[in-house]
Amino acid sequence: MSITNTSIWRALKSHAQAMQSSSIASLFDDEPERASNRMIQSCGLTLDFSKSKASHETFNLLEMLAEKTDLKRKAGELTSGQMLNNTEQRSALHTLLRARPGEHHSDLADKYAEVEAALKQVERLSREVRSGAWVGSTGQRITDILHIGIGGSYLGPRMIDEALTPYNDGTLKCHYVANVDGHHIDHVLRDLNWESTLIIIVSKSFSTMETRVNATSAQQWLLQHMEQGDLDKHLVAITNNVTAACAFGVGQENIIPIWDWVGGRYSLWSAVGLPIALGYGFETFRALLDGAAEMDQHFLTADFHHNMPMMLALLGVWYHNFLNMTSHAVLPYDHWLRLLPDHLQQLDMESNGKSVTSEGKTVDYTTGPLIWGGEGTNGQHAFHQLLHQGTGIASIDFLLPLRPHHGRTEHHDWLVASCLSQSQALMQGKSAEEIDANTSDLVRSHKVMPGNRPSNTILLDQLTPETLGSLVALYEHKVFCQGMVWDLNPFDQWGVELGKILGENVYKMIEGASDPDSVDPSTNNLTEIYKSIRNKDD
Ligand code: F6P
Repeated sequence: MSITNTSIWRALKSHAQAMQSSSIASLFDDEPERASNRMIQSCGLTLDFSKSKASHETFNLLEMLAEKTDLKRKAGELTSGQMLNNTEQRSALHTLLRARPGEHHSDLADKYAEVEAALKQVERLSREVRSGAWVGSTGQRITDILHIGIGGSYLGPRMIDEALTPYNDGTLKCHYVANVDGHHIDHVLRDLNWESTLIIIVSKSFSTMETRVNATSAQQWLLQHMEQGDLDKHLVAITNNVTAACAFGVGQENIIPIWDWVGGRYSLWSAVGLPIALGYGFETFRALLDGAAEMDQHFLTADFHHNMPMMLALLGVWYHNFLNMTSHAVLPYDHWLRLLPDHLQQLDMESNGKSVTSEGKTVDYTTGPLIWGGEGTNGQHAFHQLLHQGTGIASIDFLLPLRPHHGRTEHHDWLVASCLSQSQALMQGKSAEEIDANTSDLVRSHKVMPGNRPSNTILLDQLTPETLGSLVALYEHKVFCQGMVWDLNPFDQWGVELGKILGENVYKMIEGASDPDSVDPSTNNLTEIYKSIRNKDD
């Protein structure tokens, strides 16, 4: 039975009609302690959802929806390794990757032993490279890491690496190449010295086109200067496909495994996070995992009204399915968190961008929203116009670390003031009466701010490896809960496959090895235009 046929869904629908016109500001009058009541603190994070468009009744109905969709039980199934990814017959055990010794589920001892062994490899490799014990083929110390991977094998580590910049001691510099666009690798290789560069190829499948092409170019770059046998000093792979990595030329000793029960977008906690251990030391990587493990415990144990991931998830469902908000913006007020929206785009949209339930029935409700965002305060001078006066209302998370890593108090005071006043402006708006009486009717109509636009604010005590781990795990569990409410399988991504197959065929057409009739006239015409230029340039 579809969730839309349940009494709780119908109750939320009719409650939404009443709430559409209600004002967030008046909710503070109805609930005098709202500012402090509608707040959850855990894991060095504070989720303030007092500016939500949700009343006492809304929260109670959302709690009933959480119960109806069995979120507590499903959280237990996730962490105990149940086969939640039913189309690929896999569990989704990213929580096991960060579990502290002795704190994993008793049924998962064998898998945990593999996790520990891989973490030991990460620790050994990062210690050797950082200490200078690992040297390149000519005896030079490694100074630069080139990480090659895409999607989950890129976005997570790249985002964490940048977010931890204040902790960087400069021992190693990490560079990332994801796109098959040759401009990128061309640009990166130009500045690297092969003698002091270690290349990490990260691909769960070891078959992703972009990673294969970039890795081949990088390997050729190395082989211009060294024999095949010396590659072991410069080439490491993180993969579930050890055979393919060996066939590519990576030494068996230099391959660290990941497993099919880790989804790409949840893999930064595995050896995929190697650049974090290399760049910051293994202890910092462990601290990141510990922060995530702390959030896992919070998720599993806190009741609905005090459970950050569940609250974020259910408020998201409320806005998306009942108040018709079509997108969700993530606005970190921290320069070093500016890549978080990119990571969350994959996490959320690849997980919940689905139109059939886990049992294959077409849904009759909307599922995953469009996720977007960017760093504050920059966005205020760009896309915030739409947030304040546009017609497509977005739900919003403002993120703000309280303590900066610099001593520039004036800067941080302005950053905090900007963040807090944006959510205030969105809620409060500005009526026609509040606008200067001398303003013409035309200009007045343009200056009116509708207000009554909700947002969450997530405060971080400070952006540390621990709070960062907790924050990312918070969003993982939020996405999981929403997937469960929408009855989806959030752990597969079949929608990306067709493009890969058609891409192979167009590539063959460019190479003259596939029939033009195999594509539509438009695609054929565009391919021919490219071929005529390419052939001329040749
Ligand atoms: O094409 C989508 C995808 O499979 C993602 O889910 C994944 O994170 C990415 O490609 C990279 O895959 P791999 O790690 O196997 O190269």
